[in-house]
Amino acid sequence: MKIIAVYHNKGGVGKTTTVVNLAAALRKKGKRILVIDLDSQANTTFATGLIKFDDEEFDDIRDNNILQVLQSEEFYPIQEIARKSQFNNPEIDVLPSHIDLMQYETELNQLDYSRLILIEKLEEVKDIYDFVLIDTPPSLNLYARIALITADYLIIPSDLKPFANQGLVNIKDFVKKIDGFRRQIKRSPLEVLGVLACKISTNVRFVQSTLRNRMEVIKQRYNFKIMETIIYDRDDLAKCAEKIQILENKEIAVPISVLDFKPDSASAQEFELLAMEVLQKTGMK
Ligand SMILES: Nc1ncnc2c1ncn2[C@@H]1O[C@H](COP(=O)(O)OP(=O)(O)OP(=O)(O)O)[C@@H](O)[C@H]1O
Ligand SMILES: [Mg+2]
Repeated sequence: MKIIAVYHNKGGVGKTTTVVNLAAALRKKGKRILVIDLDSQANTTFATGLIKFDDEEFDDIRDNNILQVLQSEEFYPIQEIARKSQFNNPEIDVLPSHIDLMQYETELNQLDYSRLILIEKLEEVKDIYDFVLIDTPPSLNLYARIALITADYLIIPSDLKPFANQGLVNIKDFVKKIDGFRRQIKRSPLEVLGVLACKISTNVRFVQSTLRNRMEVIKQRYNFKIMETIIYDRDDLAKCAEKIQILENKEIAVPISVLDFKPDSASAQEFELLAMEVLQKTGMK
């Protein structure tokens, strides 16, 4: 079982989109996938269709989400909390998040075991899944830390714009600190698979000159690897996550993976390529 965290401290660069659609692409290749949402915004939980209505009355996730998994040493094993999501065919298991995560951060921070409990609980499901993909918040908080301590690999989605690039300095520093902690717990260093170019303009002139330069900068100035696959800015990718249905005068969210939404689209093909790159780089091909 390989654990991959998808992280950047800048918001809106495509972390959640990457987690959800990479999970779908790997699943379609027959891999058994668990997606973990470690962001209190719960965007992945929403994007995988686990939140049907934005109504507190229907909130059955509040008492059964990643927060309880992290809070309890003895109870709330992953198998009990993970839910089957139909946002993709075949289904994918998702460990949901909840807005409550935000208010419990300080309390969890004071628990000695909070940084290690996810590693332990994942150990129990290591024969059930081939890949665990972890979505993270756009910050340097405890949940991002837990994700990077737990993961074997890191993918850093980035729109390659100046703000995102400046963030890479923070990420480098953050990974260094995480590796220090990992050494103490006898865990090998986090392997950075690379910066993943996301939401990239398809404008021909941009792709031929500016994009090449920007990718060079990542390697030269920030000394990060860059992934071969490029995820371009495409309408299909935004649309498939926002699909809704009207049922008895109520709007329900029915998000689906771009691979099911438009299997022949350029976007679906890009995620298929990303899945192949990930399989190859993690030795799971
Ligand atoms: N390649 C793309 N093409 C078109 N739209 C995209 C693409 N990637 C992401 N988006 C859209 O951009 C918005 C932000 O993407 P996403 O939620 O994946 O970013 P994020 O990094 O997870 O954000 P946050 O930091 O808030 O968690 C979403 O509305 C998403 O649908
Ligand atoms: Mg997100």
